[in-house]
Amino acid sequence: MINPFNFENSRALVIGGSTGLGKEITSALLRHGADVIIASRDSQRLEEACNGMNSNGFLGSCSYKDVDITSEDSINDLINYVSAEFDNGLNILINSAGMNIRNPIEKIQNDDWDQVMNANLRGAFILHRSVFHLLKEAEYGRVINIASIFSSVSYPERATYAASKGGLLMFSKTIAIEWAKYGITVNTISPGPFLTEINTKVLEDRENYEKFCSRIPMARFGEPEEIITAALFLASPQSSYVTGSDIIVDGGWTSA
Ligand SMILES: NC(=O)c1ccc[n+]([C@@H]2O[C@H](COP(=O)([O-])OP(=O)(O)OC[C@H]3O[C@@H](n4cnc5c(N)ncnc54)[C@H](OP(=O)(O)O)[C@@H]3O)[C@@H](O)[C@H]2O)c1
Repeated sequence: MINPFNFENSRALVIGGSTGLGKEITSALLRHGADVIIASRDSQRLEEACNGMNSNGFLGSCSYKDVDITSEDSINDLINYVSAEFDNGLNILINSAGMNIRNPIEKIQNDDWDQVMNANLRGAFILHRSVFHLLKEAEYGRVINIASIFSSVSYPERATYAASKGGLLMFSKTIAIEWAKYGITVNTISPGPFLTEINTKVLEDRENYEKFCSRIPMARFGEPEEIITAALFLASPQSSYVTGSDIIVDGGWTSA
């Protein structure tokens, strides 16, 4: 019988894998047998996360490399590292890097706009272009970009973030079409609000937090581990006919 969540002999790269949703997905992949490289800017957090996960006795092993996806040189260094670490290419790319600067339009500085766009959208573009040859080389290829419900609905003070995530959703669909002929699938996961660091500002303000919850049919934020099943499904070698799709994991927000 086929085990759809068998990731033994699979090799994955998780950008943003040291924290939040990326870390949950990394742990799940390791538990199911994948070898995973995690990458983001903060080397100390990468090292701690990697050591922690490697001490859990998971089937797969974790290593790390720093990257700033707003820098093409830094992405090239990462891709060289991945290429040296993994023989036979890369099976799974999870792009969970992201940032948010919240403000009404009249207060958004040009630099804020650029920072968010560079991390959430331009970084994804350079990353996909640079990693393509490694995905093509592998026996199967899966790409998952972590978008947001604000790719398709919005909220005040999210002009920059929503524009970047809406762009990421359409970028992913386009690459899904281009890479279909190679058997590489490209999908997005669109989370609603989750209890992670990116929401620190919202979580610090009880009134704002409750305002958010009132929009959610499940009346709560998601727990980070509630992202795992969607990610494993899209990363599975068995999900070979699912491409250009978006899985919304939002406690019902976008249906209400
Ligand atoms: N939590 C939510 O409610 C929610 C909802 C919808 C969508 N999302 C999306 O889900 C993804 C993961 O977010 P999260 O909730 O897990 O929050 P998080 O813990 O803040 O994760 C963001 C990750 O992105 C990395 N990162 C940021 N800028 C980077 C850069 N320039 N280069 C490389 N890595 C960078 C951060 O690591 P370093 O700081 O070490 O670089 C961090 O690991 C993000 O794309 C976010 O937009 C989250």
